Amino acid sequence: MKPLVWSLWNEIRAATLALLNWLPTELGVIARRRLLHHFLGRVGKNVRILPGLRLTNPEKIRIGSNCSFNHNVFIAGGGEVTIGDWVGFGPDAKVWSVNHRFDDPDTPWQRQGWIRNPVMIADDVWVGANVFVMPGVTIGHGAILSAGSVVNKSIPPFAIVAGNPARVVGWRRRQTGAAEEVPSGRGSATVTELTEDFRRSRNPLSQAGSPQVRA
Ligand SMILES: CC(C)(COP(=O)(O)OP(=O)(O)OC[C@H]1O[C@@H](n2cnc3c(N)ncnc32)[C@H](O)[C@@H]1OP(=O)(O)O)[C@@H](O)C(=O)NCCC(=O)NCCS
Repeated sequence: MKPLVWSLWNEIRAATLALLNWLPTELGVIARRRLLHHFLGRVGKNVRILPGLRLTNPEKIRIGSNCSFNHNVFIAGGGEVTIGDWVGFGPDAKVWSVNHRFDDPDTPWQRQGWIRNPVMIADDVWVGANVFVMPGVTIGHGAILSAGSVVNKSIPPFAIVAGNPARVVGWRRRQTGAAEEVPSGRGSATVTELTEDFRRSRNPLSQAGSPQVRA
């Protein structure tokens, strides 16, 4: 009986969230600003969300203050997604924190479960239209993800990236030292340090032993 009641409650919650996220006009924007915190892990102040937001595992998604979401942003929160302050999402951007397992070729991948990898997006990041952010990625402070980028590696602070896979095409603020030599965050100690700093400060739930953040 208990599981039935529990799943009914979850269904009602999911349906309410879907309706809230669908509500059009400024009324919808205001309703989401006031009510979304009942569903998510955290929602800061003054968040502006246009209709069509889709969320899975909303309780594992945390959003800072002054963020904006254009139409139809999709966030899969199963592996935890943490978004800082002043982050903006273009229409149809997607952030994913889970992947299917497929290690065993003799078992259908659909029966192998999931790999969960947290995504962290620091403050003042602009996520362009149709961007896809992959599981395990950290986006550094002030970075810009150009329209249509597929971001499969962590991105250093203030980098401007574009393409599939996303590569650094410019800088909002020029980096100095090691970070400058290693675009796209590949294997850079500096980026790893920044990633770890950010992970510690933004994601207290993510203790040692939890899935690793890719750097
Ligand atoms: C991020 C952005 C503003 C970058 O502008 P910019 O700094 O002026 O960059 P440039 O136009 O000088 O481009 C720099 C290089 O990156 C490439 N580039 C820029 N945007 C790109 C994209 N979306 N995809 C692939 N390559 C891109 C350019 O072709 C150029 O390459 P080149 O030097 O080989 O010619 C812009 O590209 C962008 O994507 N804006 C997002 C728009 C959007 O999503 N709006 C939704 C509303 S929130």
